[in-house]
Amino acid sequence: MQSRAHQLRRDGRRIAFVPTMGFLHEGHLSLMRIGREQADVLVISIFVNPTQFAPGEDFEAYPRDMPRDLALAESVGGDIVFTPDDEMMYREGFQTYVTPERLQKGLCGLSRPIFFRGVATVVTKLFNIVQPDIAVFGEKDFQQLVIIRRLVKDLNFGIEIIGGSTVREDDGLAMSSRNAYLKAEQRSAALSLHQALQQSRALVQQGETDPAQIIAAATGHIEGFDQAVVDYIVIVDPETLEDLAVVDRPARMAMAVRVGSTRLIDNMALGD
Ligand code: PAJ
Repeated sequence: MQSRAHQLRRDGRRIAFVPTMGFLHEGHLSLMRIGREQADVLVISIFVNPTQFAPGEDFEAYPRDMPRDLALAESVGGDIVFTPDDEMMYREGFQTYVTPERLQKGLCGLSRPIFFRGVATVVTKLFNIVQPDIAVFGEKDFQQLVIIRRLVKDLNFGIEIIGGSTVREDDGLAMSSRNAYLKAEQRSAALSLHQALQQSRALVQQGETDPAQIIAAATGHIEGFDQAVVDYIVIVDPETLEDLAVVDRPARMAMAVRVGSTRLIDNMALGD
């Protein structure tokens, strides 16, 4: 992959890159379409990255379907699908990690303390292997997007990062490979995230500026559903991810909720 990328760059081709863990859905495909439009060559990676899963998380159970993924990647004009295996990416003796500092401390970092180290490390490796000019990431994983933008600045990658908006099912549920875990009777609880975000947005439009009030209302809505337990709900500055004391400027509301044993995340801009 790396020598192919070097050759493409020598030939003056512009490379767009969309990293994924596979089990592709319309959210992933929307990012690929953005990449397709912006460059000459679209590279997609499919790799369920073991270093971003803690022991006891769903690394083994994570849904996989390579034949279907390859067909979908081709259907949106993917030129190269890079599918390394664990041994290729983490050779014996591997010991060099990339660790975001402050940005990984809150939100998902609280309950998943090694997650963003794993993400930043694998994305660094993938950037070095694929040598892209641009890379597309989803706003669905908002903290991840902010961390990748920072990583590219901090480590001088010179790659343009594009954020793609969240693609949802018709009922509002943010698409996710992990939705495959949801049982039919858990669907209404899963919808509560998007409902709570929309209600919060409406509260802000009506003039509410106190994050505590907005978060309390959202928590009440979500935990009104059977099997739904809030992991976190925050209202943060969209660049620093610091909690806002007053919602009087651009703000991002982000949350993680357990529905049964499935952990779902979602986020939305509050106000304009
Ligand atoms: P994965 O969860 O497969 O997601 C791959 C990309 O698709 C990410 O940029 C994610 O934000 C985006 N995405 C997921 N659901 C989306 C949706 N509903 N709408 C729009 N975009 C969506 O995120 C990862 O993999 C991994 O952490 C990775 C970056 C590949 C590193 O291992």
